[in-house]
Amino acid sequence: MLRNKLLIAITIVCLFISIGGHAACKGLVSLAALNKANPEAASVDYCNNFASSSGISDECALNSAAVSPINKAIRKYKVASRGEIVATLAWMLYESDNWKYNINHFPGNIGQGTRTMMSWNYVSQYAKQLHPNEYEQAVGSSGDDVSSANNSTKTAVIDLVLNNDDSFGAGFWYLTTQAPSFHNNPSKLRDGNMQDFQEYVQSGIVTSWNSDREAIWTTVNDAIVF
Ligand SMILES: *[C@@H]1O[C@H](CO)[C@@H](O)[C@H](O)[C@H]1NC(C)=O
Ligand SMILES: *[C@@H]1O[C@H](CO)[C@@H](O)[C@H](O)[C@H]1NC(C)=O
Repeated sequence: MLRNKLLIAITIVCLFISIGGHAACKGLVSLAALNKANPEAASVDYCNNFASSSGISDECALNSAAVSPINKAIRKYKVASRGEIVATLAWMLYESDNWKYNINHFPGNIGQGTRTMMSWNYVSQYAKQLHPNEYEQAVGSSGDDVSSANNSTKTAVIDLVLNNDDSFGAGFWYLTTQAPSFHNNPSKLRDGNMQDFQEYVQSGIVTSWNSDREAIWTTVNDAIVF
C-alpha cells in the first residue's frame, strides 16, 4: 500500500519535472542498465570473490549498491544530459576497476580516492564542501593548507567521502563544479560522441587517454538507455 502510494507520488513528480523540460526521471539509470554497463558487478558473488583474491574487503560495491547513489547524484548536481552521464559512469568504472576500489592502491597515494580516484587536492575540496564541520575537525591545525596535510589528516578527510552516496557522486560533483565548461554545453560531451569523451578525459579530468577508457565508454554508451 505504502509502496504503491510512493510509486504514484514518484510518477507524478516525474511527470511534473518532464513537463518542466528537465527530463529528470527519464534521465535516471536503471539497475538493468547498470548491470549491462558493468556485468561483473551484477553477480552477488563479485565482491566476496574480489575480497578473497585481493584481501581488500571493504571497498568493492555491487551495482545494486551503486544505482541509488548514482541517481541521487544525478538529481543533486542536475546532470540531465545522457552524454554527461555516460561519460561520468565510464570515468568512474575505469578508475575504480568496475567498483572494486574506493581508494588508490597503485601506488597507494594516501588521500586519493572515491570512485573517480580523484587526487587529494580534489578529495579535500569535496569533503570540505559536503561535510564542512567534520572537515574542520579532521584537518585540525593544518587548516586550509591542504598541501601540508600529513597522512593521518588525509585519511581522516577522505574517510568522510568514501560512503556510497559521496563516493559514487564524486564524478558528478567534479563535472559540475571542477569542469563546468563541460556541463550543459551543447558542443561538449554530446550524446553518443566518443571524441567528446576523449576531450573530457584529456582536458576536463586532465588525465591520459587509452583504449581501455574507450572500451568502457563504448559498453556504457550501449547500456544506458533513457
Ligand atoms: C598530522 O597533522 C595534524 C594536523 O596538523 C596534527 O594534529 C597531527 O598531530 C599530525 N599527525 C602526525 C602523525 O604528525
Ligand atoms: C605517507 O604515505 C605515503 C604513501 O603510503 C608514504 O610513502 C609516506 O612515507 C607516508 N608519510 C609519512 C610521513 O608517513
